[in-house]
Amino acid sequence: MPVIIGVPKETLPGEKRVAATPETIKKLKERGLAVHVQRGAGQGAGITDEAYVAAGAELTDTPWANDVVFKVRPPTLAEAGLLKEGALLVSMVQAERNPGLVDALKARKATVLALEKVPRITRAQKMDVLSSMANLSGYRAVIEAATHYQGFFSPQITAAGASPPAKVLIIGAGVAGLAAVGAARALGADVRGFDTRAAAREQVESLGARFLEVKLQESGEGQGGYAKVMSPEFIAAEMALFREQAREVDVIITTALVPGTKAPILVPRDVVDCLKPGSVIVDMAAEQGGNCELTKPGENFVYNGVQILGFTDLASRMAATASRFFSMNLWHLAGELGKGDAVTIDLENDVVRPALVLHHGEVLPPPQPKEPTPVAPKPVAAAIIKPPPKAVASPAERAARSTVGGIAVVALLSLLGRFAPPEFLQHSTVFVLACFIGWQVIWSVSPALHTPLMSVTNAISGIIIVGGMLQVGGTLDMASILGALAVLFAAINIAGGFLVTQRMLKMFRRDDPAPASTGGGHGR
Ligand code: NAI
Repeated sequence: MPVIIGVPKETLPGEKRVAATPETIKKLKERGLAVHVQRGAGQGAGITDEAYVAAGAELTDTPWANDVVFKVRPPTLAEAGLLKEGALLVSMVQAERNPGLVDALKARKATVLALEKVPRITRAQKMDVLSSMANLSGYRAVIEAATHYQGFFSPQITAAGASPPAKVLIIGAGVAGLAAVGAARALGADVRGFDTRAAAREQVESLGARFLEVKLQESGEGQGGYAKVMSPEFIAAEMALFREQAREVDVIITTALVPGTKAPILVPRDVVDCLKPGSVIVDMAAEQGGNCELTKPGENFVYNGVQILGFTDLASRMAATASRFFSMNLWHLAGELGKGDAVTIDLENDVVRPALVLHHGEVLPPPQPKEPTPVAPKPVAAAIIKPPPKAVASPAERAARSTVGGIAVVALLSLLGRFAPPEFLQHSTVFVLACFIGWQVIWSVSPALHTPLMSVTNAISGIIIVGGMLQVGGTLDMASILGALAVLFAAINIAGGFLVTQRMLKMFRRDDPAPASTGGGHGR
């Protein structure tokens, strides 16, 4: 008889994820396990009962009556009471937030693996639901911020005016924070990040964001590379930094947390007071009390025009992908529990043992503390959005390259000078110098005009006008005629550019609507 895994429908209001997908059911079956899914369990994630059956699952109304139960959220006390005696429950437990749950499970003589306790060691990365969900949620936090913020995230330069990039501050650069940094950068925002751990600096900077610093020096590294609770002095210095930042930024995303503790208050009321109306705070730590003093868990609380989003279901808002990742994590974890016809709990297993809350209804003594191998949280989004690193030449390399280039040009000219007419060398020297000076002039023009491209083309036209005017002499020869034509066409280009831009701008002025037949825009 194969071991049967029951997959109940989540009952927490708003929770749309499911602990098994057709994909993982096929994989579990290949391992010799059977899966019974509660009818409608996949509905929120867009998975039909038919899809489960097609993958080889059986539909049931009594998922709790099986030897093993896979679930997303901690069971309610009523659900715990339904668990088959001596069964194995694999789900989030969060005992500190669910009083009475462990006792209810003890009464069922259950063996319980708490997914939030899977250690963050390299080997367990593929089973780490906290990381996979935090990664997704960090991304979603940015999407929620962008949805509620009434401006562009990316810089915009249009004929109707310019809009600078949104300024986004991300507090806490763990898995969720780094995913948020990556997503906000991908949307084009000006991002700055802060974390107490020194290791976070490189990760934040590698995603193209600025890493902020406080004046007070204190290491945020706890045991095994995890964060530690910071001193009150440090928290005060942090708040001063955030107060300063709040005057500037449009969006704050907070993810700061030390595992096992209440979230530190880093954005008190007076920091919120410094934000402009229309700004958005996404408090990802809402479920653990929140990093913002004003957060109301699960709500969008508006204070002085600032929206404070305390959503606790960010992963569930991406239920299809979240269920896929979550169930893959569970499938990998199932690989640690033996094969097919029996479930084996190996008390020596370095992933299973720390996550084991109950073993046959007994609370085990804490495992011997092993120094975990800290895992640098992988900014998955970064892999997609990060531009290929540019090879940046050092000043010495650049100088060497210019010297070599200069020598090459001089050698080429001297070679040509041997065969070409005598004026050639003089003309070509002037030409090379003109190219060099022209290049420097054109690219040094700051784009104060309507568009950067227009500034560049106007700079080129300006040089053409100066050159043309120098050629126009007293006599009517070919050089004078060409010089005059160059001045004429370059002047038309500059004046025409401004004229068309003015007409485009007029179209956007409410008090002076342009006629409908203004024609197309200016290409630049
Ligand atoms: P994590 O432990 O990887 O990262 C937390 C980061 O906060 C660490 O890098 C730590 O150094 C930093 N930190 C701690 N104290 C700090 C302080 N005083 N100042 C600045 N940084 C500080 O945690 P992870 O996985 O990134 O999750 C972050 C938060 O997001 C957690 O609260 C988690 O529960 C929450 N979360 C919320 C979801 C939702 O739907 N709202 C979904 C998933 C995660």
